[in-house]
Amino acid sequence: MSLDVAQLRADTPGCEEIIHLNNAGAALSPRSVTNAVTDHLRLESQLGGYEAAEAAADKLMHTRSSIAQLLCVDAADIALTHSDTSAWTKAFWGLALAGWFSSGGTVLVDSGVYNSHYFALLQAQQLFNLKIELMQLNEDGSLNLEDLDSRLDPSTKMVTATHVGTHKGAVSDVAQIGARTRTLGIPFFLDACQSAGQLPLTLSGIQCDVATGTGRKFLRGPRGTGWLFVREEWAERMQPPGIDGSSATWTSLSSFELLPRAERFQEFEYPIAAQIGLGVAVSYALELGIEAIATRISGLSANLRTGLQQAGAKIHDGPGPQSGIVSFTLPNVDCDYLAGQLKLAGINVSVTRAAWTRFDMDERGLEAAVRASPHVYNTEAEIDYLVNHVAASLNCEWS
Ligand SMILES: Cc1ncc(COP(=O)(O)O)c(C=O)c1O
Repeated sequence: MSLDVAQLRADTPGCEEIIHLNNAGAALSPRSVTNAVTDHLRLESQLGGYEAAEAAADKLMHTRSSIAQLLCVDAADIALTHSDTSAWTKAFWGLALAGWFSSGGTVLVDSGVYNSHYFALLQAQQLFNLKIELMQLNEDGSLNLEDLDSRLDPSTKMVTATHVGTHKGAVSDVAQIGARTRTLGIPFFLDACQSAGQLPLTLSGIQCDVATGTGRKFLRGPRGTGWLFVREEWAERMQPPGIDGSSATWTSLSSFELLPRAERFQEFEYPIAAQIGLGVAVSYALELGIEAIATRISGLSANLRTGLQQAGAKIHDGPGPQSGIVSFTLPNVDCDYLAGQLKLAGINVSVTRAAWTRFDMDERGLEAAVRASPHVYNTEAEIDYLVNHVAASLNCEWS
């Protein structure tokens, strides 16, 4: 079913202000999301923060269940967090504090691994005898399965992979990893930060044990929100850091008990209004239908790639199936300068940098690229407007 773009734009006040093509950074929220957030903040000011939370308990539960529906998992396996990074590191250090890395071993990463996840691995490497190895890709962008099979052995402690990297359009065939790690009993962490909200995500099919994401990107939720999925079997083995009365019970002066399943990753204090908003955003996406969203984003980003190429830009999205992230550079034009010029023309894009995804960017000799990322509410005319500005930039004299 195709989407009613006029209605989507009417639902999204920001569309009247700006051409927003930075949805991989943070998308424009629908009005209903902003209303839900401000309603709750108002309630807090009228009732008191604890009392408002009590009154909104169903709404918070709804946020967990709508995320669970999006990911096709059980709501009891979902925790709400502040960001993707807080979700990922809670699960990762949850394994570490449970002694999972004490005897050393290997962690396999993909070339799209995001800096904050890799930082945790580097910190852990300083504490444990951990080796970090990179999974190899084939020329067509698919995972090199021979390489993967040769690396998976009893010393493999964990595999972490990125569904869609922060810096390029290519979508990874992560289910190939899950099909192997599940039978071997190796925990598989999936970074779904850029895919959630723009691509169908059936976690049981991917067979990951942990998945993480943020609210503000393609899900169109408020900033300061994130989510964590941990499969029950692994959650029950983890000792998350930063536990409090919402994740554990203080049973005696020398003991505590962690709550079951994903509850043990919850925190007492977090932005309740924003998390309620995230639930509204996820429901909004589910009502539109993730397949319909994916089709529209894919159409807009394909047009964008074609237009940019015709305008003389170099696309850096990598081979294979593509998502709604379009990364490009212009010969002899500085990326920050170009993004600044586009901003002056009323177009939001961002600049993606090697320091965010160093494995892949370094290998391709890329320091930075301009990243444009359409969402359902963008129009074909907005894509053309961007392409025309990029083309005009090439025809100018740049210093
Ligand atoms: C692929 C990917 N993973 C993880 C993150 C981290 O997300 P957060 O800033 O919510 O921690 C990002 C943020 O841009 C990302 O693009």
